Amino acid sequence: MERCGIVLAGGTGSRLYPVTIALSKQLLPIHDKPMIYYPLSVLMLANIREILLISTPHDIGLFERLLGDGSQFGLFISYAVQPYPRGLAEAYKIGEKFVQGRPSCLILGDNLLYGHSLSATLNKATQKKQGATIFGYHVSNPSAYGVVEFDRSMRVISIEEKPLKPKSSYAIPGIYFYDGRAPSFAHQLKPSARGELEITDLNKKYWEEGSLDVELLGRGIAWLDTGTHDLLYDASLFVKTIEQRQGLKIGCLEEIAYHKGWIGEEQLQSQIKKMGNSSYANYLRHLLETPRTFV
Ligand code: TTP
Repeated sequence: MERCGIVLAGGTGSRLYPVTIALSKQLLPIHDKPMIYYPLSVLMLANIREILLISTPHDIGLFERLLGDGSQFGLFISYAVQPYPRGLAEAYKIGEKFVQGRPSCLILGDNLLYGHSLSATLNKATQKKQGATIFGYHVSNPSAYGVVEFDRSMRVISIEEKPLKPKSSYAIPGIYFYDGRAPSFAHQLKPSARGELEITDLNKKYWEEGSLDVELLGRGIAWLDTGTHDLLYDASLFVKTIEQRQGLKIGCLEEIAYHKGWIGEEQLQSQIKKMGNSSYANYLRHLLETPRTFV
C-alpha cells in the first residue's frame, strides 16, 4: 500500500501575534513562497502524493484557495478541519478515514527541512513497512522540543516532550513516519497535563513494542523553526541566501513535480500563466528552457 501524507497546519501561532491574528502562520511567506510549500515539498521528495491537509475552521478555505486539489503539482490534496488545537496526535483521529490503514507520514505545516541527502533519508523511511521512524537533530535549545535519547546502536532510551532538563541535544523534528496502526494508537491516547494528545505519547506506543527507529539528520541538513518573529525572519533569510547563490529554488512544488514526471510541460505552462510577473514565474519559465532531468 502506498504511503500517504498528512500536513498539520492548524494551531494558534500565538507566539507570532499580531501577525497571525487574521492569517494562519503556515500561509505567511518564507521569502518567495507560502510556508506550507516547504512541508509539501518534503512529502513530495519522500514520494508521497496523496495528502490530507488539516487546518482550523477559519483558515482551511484559504489553503484550499491556494492549493486546490493539488493536481497542478501532481498531487491529490484533500482537506479536514481541526476545530481546536488539541495536539499533534489528534491528526490521526481526524485523518483516520483518509489513512484507511495505510502507512503514512505526518509533517507539521511550519517545518522547513532542506539539505544534503534529505531525499535518500526520507525514502528510506517511506520504504519501511512496519513500525515508525522519527528523526533526531542536534539543536542548541532541545528543551523547546520533543527530545530523544539513544544508545550507540541507535536504540531509543528515552523520549520526553519539552523537558526542563533534556537528556540529550537531539530534538525530534516535526516529521514522523508510521505504519497503518497510527490512528488506532491515537485513539488509545489520553490528553496530557496541558490538555493535548501528544505526538510523543504516540511515538512511545511504537517504542514500547520495540518498533520505533530514530534516524539522525546530520549537520548537512537544515531544520528550521518558524515559530517566533526572529525565527521567521531567519528562515526567510536562509532561503533567500541559498536561492540567490545557487539560482535554484527551495520548495518549488512545480519543479519537483516536473522532474518526477508527475506533471508535463502543458501543466507547467499553465502554472507560469497563473504566476503573473513574479520571479517565481520566471523560474518556472527557465525550467521549461533547460533539459528535463527525471529524479
Ligand atoms: P506549535 O508551534 O506547538 O503551536 P502553534 O503553531 O499554535 O504556535 P504557538 O505556540 O505560537 O501558539 O505547533 C506546531 C505545529 O503544529 C504548527 O504548525 C501548528 C500545528 N498544530 C496544529 O495544527 N494543531 C494542534 O493541535 C497543535 C498543538 C499544533
